[in-house]
Amino acid sequence: MPSMAFSDLMRLKEQLGRPLIMGHRGAMGHAPENTMASFQLAQRMGVEAIELDVHLSRDGVLVVHHDETLERTTNGQGELSALTLAQLQELDAGRHFSSEFAGERIPTLEEVLVWARGHALPVVIEFKRNLNVKAIVQAAIALVERLEAGDNVAFISFDHFVPAGLKQARPDWCTGVLYAGRPIDSVELAHKAGADGLLPNFYFVEKDMVEAAHAAGKWVGCWAPNTPREMAYALSQDVDMIGTNFPDRLHDLLKQG
Ligand code: G3P
Ligand code: CA
Repeated sequence: MPSMAFSDLMRLKEQLGRPLIMGHRGAMGHAPENTMASFQLAQRMGVEAIELDVHLSRDGVLVVHHDETLERTTNGQGELSALTLAQLQELDAGRHFSSEFAGERIPTLEEVLVWARGHALPVVIEFKRNLNVKAIVQAAIALVERLEAGDNVAFISFDHFVPAGLKQARPDWCTGVLYAGRPIDSVELAHKAGADGLLPNFYFVEKDMVEAAHAAGKWVGCWAPNTPREMAYALSQDVDMIGTNFPDRLHDLLKQG
């Protein structure tokens, strides 16, 4: 099974001679975000990991979805947490992107984790700041335990109490802190949260911060460079992982050297 440990990530990065590619909500530039179609496309495009977001249905099942509400990405309305899994899975989560994807459903986290393990693909699970975040994290720990998938996931959040709590509960599982800004001491920020990795928005990455993170035994995975110019910047800063909506573009850029 693949692992998200720093040493494994760094070894794979060295083997490949380039940063690892993380498919942001799958390959959301080409397919409806956080759907199986999007994850499958990202995998076909050759990513080394996928990123997704999770919420709880009314009946306590973890589902993969970005927003707390349904309007933007489905033909449903209102709060996701007000509907049961059965009700959520009646919704169309593909047509908002294109009629080509009509019929795509909101997947469960279990469905994605099982599929990802079958493809040796680590899953980076983002926990949004949510009034229900503690219950969401507890449900995710229980699910990952049941699937024996602890080596295959990373728990990340802008809410740094999430990785901090997870690290206390499951010290061996991988964690990361998300942020969009340039803290005076990013490594200290990650250290205080007990995080294995730093996940800044690409815009705030600087090579000296990456070097300081490496010196402290932490990896850096930046997110959301989507244009070739943005990707070139991220590559020039020597990050370990890049999360993008367009994994194919990043591969093309890497081939060009
Ligand atoms: O991987 C981090 C990134 O996904 C955070 O922002 O809004 O796309 O979930 P967002
Ligand atoms: Ca996310």
